[in-house]
Amino acid sequence: MSDTSHDRLLIIDFGSQVTQLIARRLRELNVYCEIHPYQNVTDAFLAEFAPKAVIFSGGPASVFDEGAPQPPASVFGIGVPILGICYGQQVMMHMLGGKVEQGYGTAEFGRAYVTPSDDRIDLLKGWFLEAREQVWMSHGDHVSQIAPGFEVYGTSPNAPFAITADLDRNFFAVQFHPEVHHTPNGKTLYENFVKLAGFTGDWTMGAYREEAIRKIREQVGDAKVICGLSGGVDSSVAAVLIHEAIGDQLTCVFVDHGLLRQNEADEVVTMFRDHYNMPLVHADESDLFLGELEGQSDPETKRKIIGKLFIDVFQKHANEVGGAKFLAQGTLYPDVIESVSFSGGPSVTIKSHHNVGGLPEKMGLKLVEPLRELFKDEVRALGRELGLPDSFIGRHPFPGPGLAIRCPGDITRDKLDILRKADAVYIDQIRKHGLYDEIWQAFVAILPVRTVGVMGDFRTYDYACALRAVTSVDGMTADYYPFSHEFLGETATRIINEVKGINRVTYDITSKPPGTIEWE
Ligand code: XMP
Repeated sequence: MSDTSHDRLLIIDFGSQVTQLIARRLRELNVYCEIHPYQNVTDAFLAEFAPKAVIFSGGPASVFDEGAPQPPASVFGIGVPILGICYGQQVMMHMLGGKVEQGYGTAEFGRAYVTPSDDRIDLLKGWFLEAREQVWMSHGDHVSQIAPGFEVYGTSPNAPFAITADLDRNFFAVQFHPEVHHTPNGKTLYENFVKLAGFTGDWTMGAYREEAIRKIREQVGDAKVICGLSGGVDSSVAAVLIHEAIGDQLTCVFVDHGLLRQNEADEVVTMFRDHYNMPLVHADESDLFLGELEGQSDPETKRKIIGKLFIDVFQKHANEVGGAKFLAQGTLYPDVIESVSFSGGPSVTIKSHHNVGGLPEKMGLKLVEPLRELFKDEVRALGRELGLPDSFIGRHPFPGPGLAIRCPGDITRDKLDILRKADAVYIDQIRKHGLYDEIWQAFVAILPVRTVGVMGDFRTYDYACALRAVTSVDGMTADYYPFSHEFLGETATRIINEVKGINRVTYDITSKPPGTIEWE
């Protein structure tokens, strides 16, 4: 079931890696859209959906493939503007009487420049800021003859039909991908397209919230739902949204594994139980986790122990909730794309990431994942819409295994206490200097070495620690943050003076790759 209170745009998906980015550009323009795989778009579907405009996505196929994906021919007869992108352009030309050729020698992958032949049409208004505009191409086949009724409005060296349109029918077709970052002015094209299709931009994060709530109610009915709450942005936003949808049918389970940061458990429990009145199980399992981790120093062993215990504990508390049929998770769109391998082949495990994977099948639970279509910044916007405080929404990511992977070597309660204190001073410094929001993630790692120092007239023999701070867009790659020497000096002095147990501070200047963000 779809939202019917807004003008709707239909994106027919032919399998491009970047289809979701089209939706994202449209959402930035406050246009309601839905992505549907081409197989599901039948004549009946089109009639029921009643789109105000249609976009054909790109895709890996060739129109020459047997059973090549196609939209239903009726889409060309419903009288609404259509924009075809890359494969979408080719299939449009193919179906409307143009020609597509296989691209030996004319394939284009990467940056290209389109020159306008006529930029007065509505689609291109304000688009060509330069004599030629940078675009992102990624195609093997190309259109060699346009369909009757179409004219050319832009060319690139390898795509003589880079931009074409049939102005009578409001059909537009481009060979490049306007939705990607590497087509810097691509948003203008979408803006022009939705404007000429008559969209008023009435769809907002508030509307997304309403729609998501309706869908959650529809999916869950009167069943019980459990949600593993970590205190991170994603699971917090998911929990608040689901609670708004189904109230006390939701129970959150917050597992305190003894590896949290200073005051973290209090902050999370106060916020969700007291402020949001959510049923919340605070499972203090620190003895169990720290007991099992005793004497373990191998990073993968630590991760595996924590992952397994987490599932056991979660299952125990979930059973106590009784009869839950659904498990809620704050899965984001990037998690969804990354889990689909490009090659289909197995990839090397760098680190076993811990989550509650494995649970749904084991417990016969179905998943509720209301953030699956969103990017991190959109989740933050939704969090604001739901009234979560900024201090919570802007929090740096914190890994499931917590401080265990910031404590190379043996994990002891002593070391964890020292680490918590040092981390709190470091984050305080970053906040005081107004740098918190510029940094993707910052933390202290306590090192398994002790060094000699002198304080006052006394010899010290204490732990060394490393400060880490990185900038990143998605955590996949990262650069170290270029703090000033003054900042680093002041922070080191504060940590050594305020945290008993540390007498040496270093700054980690490794990027990812070759390093990773966490130390283990
Ligand atoms: P790495 O260390 O792999 O970290 O460069 C990339 C991002 O992922 C976080 N991280 C984790 N998050 N469970 C999580 O939920 C994990 O096991 C885990 N390991 C790393 C890390 O903090 C960074 O944001």
